[in-house]
Amino acid sequence: MAIQKLMSGVFSVGAKHWGRRLFDELIPLPDGTTYNAYLIRGSEKTALIDTVDPEKKSDLLENLEALKVKNIDYVIANHAEQDHSGVIPEILEKYPNARVVTNEKCKKMLIDLLQIPEDKFLVVNDWDTLSLGDKTLQFILTPWVHWPETMVTYLREDCILFSCDFFGAHFASSELFVKNEVKVYESAKRYYAEIMMPFRKKVIGNLEKLKDIEIDMIAPSHGQVYDKPELILDAYKDWTSDSVKNEVVIPYVSMHGSTQKIVEYLIDSLTERNIVVKPFNLVVTDIGELAIEIVDAATIVIGSPIVLTGPHPAVVSAVSLANALRPKARFATVIGSYGWGGKMVDQIVGMLGNLKVELLSPVLVKGYPKDADYQSLDKLADEILEKHESLKLLGG
Ligand code: FEO
Repeated sequence: MAIQKLMSGVFSVGAKHWGRRLFDELIPLPDGTTYNAYLIRGSEKTALIDTVDPEKKSDLLENLEALKVKNIDYVIANHAEQDHSGVIPEILEKYPNARVVTNEKCKKMLIDLLQIPEDKFLVVNDWDTLSLGDKTLQFILTPWVHWPETMVTYLREDCILFSCDFFGAHFASSELFVKNEVKVYESAKRYYAEIMMPFRKKVIGNLEKLKDIEIDMIAPSHGQVYDKPELILDAYKDWTSDSVKNEVVIPYVSMHGSTQKIVEYLIDSLTERNIVVKPFNLVVTDIGELAIEIVDAATIVIGSPIVLTGPHPAVVSAVSLANALRPKARFATVIGSYGWGGKMVDQIVGMLGNLKVELLSPVLVKGYPKDADYQSLDKLADEILEKHESLKLLGG
């Protein structure tokens, strides 16, 4: 239980989940996470913005008790996913006067997911306002950050944007405001890669929609509050832009050392050409680290041995994830080894349908690499260099 004050009448009343290590049974959380909920006390009405994951409902209810909250008029639901909406039924039970304030799409999802009665809702439209007396909430529809129904809530008098998943980070800290900007930047980039990147164009549209609003603080529902919002706003502009970096990401697996040798040779060859290389051995990789690096790399090179005529299953999993996350990489290819044959390149390329990449020359080696294979890898490095130069990534 911990209540933290953003400013007069605005409190953080959500929960920290320090020990959580996996989200959606998929995404590693090295720094835990938080489910932030915010209580706003106006001169006439009280609003709760979002709730918490049901696993942490006692934290929220105890925080409201500790603040001696006797009545809640409005529960703002920015997003229907249960890590934010899951305790709305308990809030309605404890505070029977409360109405759930959300948009039509979110209302339908909350009825489906949580069986909240229809007469409990107050439906709002884009840019609608709701007065709490001396404080005014404004609702802005921001679809696909993270689901189609997502919206953000703006507290006009205090210029605080309650953004729910948008601008979030899976990062648990006892400090309310961002202090360690380097650490938070990395957590937020990991979060962007895993949650927002598949909807990059939608995110750009939402950033554009918010650009004329005066924002002094961004209070997301995961991670810390940004009291210098330009940190995360500038980062989002960078991550969502069409520009890529002079980097090659190499997710790979090696079973008997041949693919390992091929990958290591290509790393050296690219490094000699002043290209930044980020290799990831998929057997030991935190896929969140891989996701961070594919946010802005120009090229992805997938390394795999052929196993039973196709790529190694760990490579299949990583390629499937990369395809789902839709990074803005411009080039891709496949390197690896085989014993007698298979159609690995076709299979991997077939799994990358969401990516708008130009395919470069694959390098497949029979057994352990020999001189001619090293020459092919040098040629591939030259090709990557030429492609990166064509995008003017190398400067000079
Ligand atoms: Fe944090 Fe999409 O829920």
